[in-house]
Amino acid sequence: MRILLPFIIIASAFGARDFLDLFKNYDNPGGEEIKFAKAKYDFIIVGAGSAGSVLANRLSENQKWKVLLLEAGYAQNILNSIPILVGYFQLTDYNWGYNVEPQKNACLGMINRQCSWPRGKALGGTSTLNYMIHTRGNKLDYDKWANLGNVGWSYADVLPYFKKSERFNVSGVNDFLYHNENGYLCVEYVPHHTELATTFLEAGRELGYEIVDYNGEDQIGFSYIQVNMDRGKRCSAAKAYLHLNRPNLEIITGARVTKVLIDKNKRAYGVEYVKDNVLTKVICSKEVLLSAGTIDSAKLLMLSGIGPRDHLEELNIPVIQDSKVGYNMHEHIGFLGLTFKVNQSVSLLQNKLLKPSVFLDYLLNKDGLMTVPGGAEALAFIRTKYAPDEKPDVELLFVSGSIHSDNGSVLKKALRISDNVYDTVFKPIENQEAWSIWPIVQYPKSIGRLTLQSKNPFEPPKMDPNFFSHPADIEIILEGVKHAINISKTEAFQAYGSEIHDIKLPGCESFQFASDDYWRCAIKHLPSMMNHEIGTAKMGPQTDPSAVVDPQLKVYGIKRLRVIDAAIMPTIPSGHANAPIYMIGEKAADMIKETWKSVL
Ligand SMILES: Cc1cc2nc3c(=O)[nH]c(=O)nc-3n(C[C@H](O)[C@H](O)[C@H](O)COP(=O)(O)OP(=O)(O)OC[C@H]3O[C@@H](n4cnc5c(N)ncnc54)[C@H](O)[C@@H]3O)c2cc1C
Ligand SMILES: *[C@@H]1O[C@H](CO)[C@@H](O)[C@H](O)[C@H]1NC(C)=O
Ligand SMILES: *[C@@H]1O[C@H](CO)[C@@H](O)[C@H](O)[C@H]1NC(C)=O
Ligand SMILES: *[C@@H]1O[C@H](CO)[C@@H](O)[C@H](O)[C@H]1NC(C)=O
Ligand SMILES: *[C@@H]1O[C@H](CO)[C@@H](O)[C@H](O)[C@H]1NC(C)=O
Repeated sequence: MRILLPFIIIASAFGARDFLDLFKNYDNPGGEEIKFAKAKYDFIIVGAGSAGSVLANRLSENQKWKVLLLEAGYAQNILNSIPILVGYFQLTDYNWGYNVEPQKNACLGMINRQCSWPRGKALGGTSTLNYMIHTRGNKLDYDKWANLGNVGWSYADVLPYFKKSERFNVSGVNDFLYHNENGYLCVEYVPHHTELATTFLEAGRELGYEIVDYNGEDQIGFSYIQVNMDRGKRCSAAKAYLHLNRPNLEIITGARVTKVLIDKNKRAYGVEYVKDNVLTKVICSKEVLLSAGTIDSAKLLMLSGIGPRDHLEELNIPVIQDSKVGYNMHEHIGFLGLTFKVNQSVSLLQNKLLKPSVFLDYLLNKDGLMTVPGGAEALAFIRTKYAPDEKPDVELLFVSGSIHSDNGSVLKKALRISDNVYDTVFKPIENQEAWSIWPIVQYPKSIGRLTLQSKNPFEPPKMDPNFFSHPADIEIILEGVKHAINISKTEAFQAYGSEIHDIKLPGCESFQFASDDYWRCAIKHLPSMMNHEIGTAKMGPQTDPSAVVDPQLKVYGIKRLRVIDAAIMPTIPSGHANAPIYMIGEKAADMIKETWKSVL
């Protein structure tokens, strides 16, 4: 998992912040920040995350357009490009540091029943914190968007944008019906695979599954993960899309947008932002584009008077447009407590990463254990007995380590796992070789909601994902657990003496270990949030009363304002969220160019 490294040891010796500061501006091609000028812009983009970075790049291709990109965070440092360190950044200021509201049915093994909800705050946004796993989801996910009335969003419509985004270099896959080598976003296999990851693929074959390019023709099957890396280094949105030097693109970091400015004709004409305690209003002639992510785009809409009337009135925010902002929040959730012990030295234990040879292999060759994103190595998309159609209803994420593999130094903290749970279940196996599988429900039926706590833009919003409020979600994860256990029993994994770790979780002692009720209890205690939240500014046709934006991503009732990020997804695609968000950015850029093509 998110395993510690020599770097962190060095970093803590120096004082982590000072050490990291040495590398500030690494991702910022200009070196220093660009001074704010009182210029007028054509477009203002809020948020330099996965979607916002694509937009900034594509819109500034038109040299006649002046584009302003406002980002609350700063450029990432050089350590961020090292895949094994992934979990560590959640413990820094590069994370907004949100938590979910205390849950009734989930996060019971976390401090105060609150799972953490990490979000990137940096040039590159959450793509600087994420595990880099690149999955498009299922073809039918997009056909469903189209069937809901979203013209232009079927799989056939979006495939060209998935292709446009990627610079695909996955060894052994040469399928150019589905892939493209000339985009900005690097996609490759992790350069290094542990023996255990290869064993996972063998186990899949043994159980009758195919090894697939899950972003190609068929999604069901087993595979090494395809990741956003450039030969062993993280390829964040900033690295992929913002390494430009275009005079018509201004990027201001440390700029926290607090409001969209909307005139009495309900037309957006600029934004207000705070940087270094100074409030600035900045205006634009064409459009304001919100790409602050599912959480903060929804928050900004509401702060600006676009949201549910009753909720806004309660907070004394003048209502400009009554709208279902904040509803329809979906998140992928799974189970992170399934650990299998092995009898050979094959897993990613922290002490193996502390060897100089491992460090040198990375430094010289960008290869070896340090290229593994926190231990995530392979995955399977499968259908359980509950799957209603041909889509996979479970993802099994294979990790060549477990919660204990870093001795509780990073992962436990990042996930807010309580001392009691860690000390009871995981501490006794510290230094034990082990692997794990996280079974993840692909189409969760529990739906959450995001609201504001107050009209103060500096207060975090309130996020209640309502995990497991629908019982089907636990049952599907439980089936995933059973599939994972069967994987551990294959010949391939038995060659390592794979054996399930059977210390019972505190709170689940009354159930027989490995009984269905035990697993149901365990899943509620140690759910894995995948941080794929979507849907708080749902896209839908005019006839859909719950839609916040139309299929052109324009906010209903407001002119010249679009939301362009994961918030607009009407339903959640399977897999991981990031590749679809790049697709949305690429497609939106073309829609905007189309809108303004006659007005150059
Ligand atoms: C720990 C973790 C692991 C993940 N792993 C994967 C994975 O392996 N694969 C995958 O596909 N997905 C993964 N994800 C999810 C994926 O990275 C995100 O869904 C995606 O990056 C979100 O893109 P976005 O453009 O919607 O928002 P973001 O990338 O979050 O961008 C929003 C940007 O807006 C900025 N912002 C917010 N509010 C303001 C404001 N008021 N003013 C100015 N700027 C503002 C933020 O600082 C941020 O930079 C992971 C997420 C996390 C947290
Ligand atoms: C593709 O990946 C291989 C192996 O990592 C590398 O040698 C090659 O240079 C890459 N090709 C491109 C075009 O980046
Ligand atoms: C982790 O803890 C175990 C004992 O619990 C210890 O033997 C081991 O050396 C520790 N590993 C590291 C890298 O600190
Ligand atoms: C696990 O394997 C057993 C024995 O082969 C089989 O009966 C069971 O259906 C399998 N479970 C799943 C979920 O595939
Ligand atoms: C690990 O366990 C397997 C299965 O019991 C056994 O065949 C193998 O020899 C063991 N390996 C070691 C190194 O103990």
